[in-house]
Amino acid sequence: MSNPFKPTAGMNPPVLVGRTDDIEDFSCALDDGVGAPGRLMYLTGARGVGKTVMLTALGDIARKQHWLVIDETAEDGFIPRIINALHDDDKMRLSSMTMPSANLTIPGTPATASVSLGSLQFAASERALNFRKAMSDRLDKLEKKDRGILITLDEVQAANLEEIRALATAVQHLIREQRNIAFVFAGLPSMVEDVVNDNVLTFLRRAERKHLGSVSLDDVKESFAETIESNGKHATEQVLSALAQATNGYPFMIQLVGYWTWHASATGPYAHDSEITADAADRGIARAKIKLGDMVHGPAVDGLSAMARDYLLAMAQDDGPSSTSDIAKRLERNQIYANVYRTQLIKEDIIFASSYGYVDFKLPYLRDYLREHGAYHQMRRAIAGME
Ligand SMILES: Nc1ncnc2c1ncn2[C@@H]1O[C@H](COP(=O)(O)OP(=O)(O)OP(=O)(O)O)[C@@H](O)[C@H]1O
Ligand SMILES: [Mg+2]
Repeated sequence: MSNPFKPTAGMNPPVLVGRTDDIEDFSCALDDGVGAPGRLMYLTGARGVGKTVMLTALGDIARKQHWLVIDETAEDGFIPRIINALHDDDKMRLSSMTMPSANLTIPGTPATASVSLGSLQFAASERALNFRKAMSDRLDKLEKKDRGILITLDEVQAANLEEIRALATAVQHLIREQRNIAFVFAGLPSMVEDVVNDNVLTFLRRAERKHLGSVSLDDVKESFAETIESNGKHATEQVLSALAQATNGYPFMIQLVGYWTWHASATGPYAHDSEITADAADRGIARAKIKLGDMVHGPAVDGLSAMARDYLLAMAQDDGPSSTSDIAKRLERNQIYANVYRTQLIKEDIIFASSYGYVDFKLPYLRDYLREHGAYHQMRRAIAGME
């Protein structure tokens, strides 16, 4: 029997827990017609909270209503890729317009600054125009049948701001022209904020914002019961509660706990044909915590500045919420300085202000991870400092 849980980035979970309201809002926005506010939306939240799978779920809603859905990731060149997708069935693909390969050396620049004509080199404004035209042409056909176009753009934090501006400007025009479109983008909180606050993109501020967070433990428990039962096994209330508790409501952890518990119930000392035993659950939870460290905590911590990492390490010395003035003391900095990193970490959804003057970890098990790996992180910093 294959494992029903999917602890892989972007993979659809067996049950999408706790997002019904958000999905319904979007469904209504499509029903409400051109100009409905929910047709312009952005999703933010920490790594592994389920942004990518939400984009898929929203895309499914639109597909059910026979919309054309284009899913893209905001790496360089996403506009030409969207244009390609728009032309997909009428042989007008951009690749066929590619010019013969030739190198052009620009006078007055070093020889290395040559431009290959073989690849597409649109100026941003030209890209926007091409995109608008491709959208309009496609919409002319779709709208006759009451259909529209949804574009989802993931990993917006990785985007080149110029290209985002070009796309957003074009989308704004299409909205003004009352075209039947929807646009949903997703990314990590602080970077998306940079995009939304870009003064050229003021209209994006009006986009409906969904900050995805953890989901309720009752919903998690129910989803475990449903997935386990529908795949031919059984677990007691007690085991289901233990599994749900261990996730802390963090979506990625739902899949990790589910996956490794299922695994423990399929092979090894706790294998059982029809039952997920308490031992299997314990073992699964332990494995899930280790995997969470490798897959989420490691990358999340590595992506931070050395000072933000130190801030977390200082917090990890406490067993519960940390006083911000204690942390400043541990860092041997004044509070204003420490506060810069506090703000940054809160924005990234890694910690939160638990009460006045106190912060606590938001990513589950990060404290344990840091305690285990703290020495490693400090060593790395010491090495970097010697270079
Ligand atoms: N609502 C949910 N219920 C159950 N599982 C979920 C839910 N949302 C996400 N997951 C699971 O969590 C994992 C992470 O989801 P996803 O890749 O969408 O996160 P993300 O927010 O896009 O992360 P990143 O910022 O790293 O791209 C996947 O294994 C997915 O199946
Ligand atoms: Mg993602």
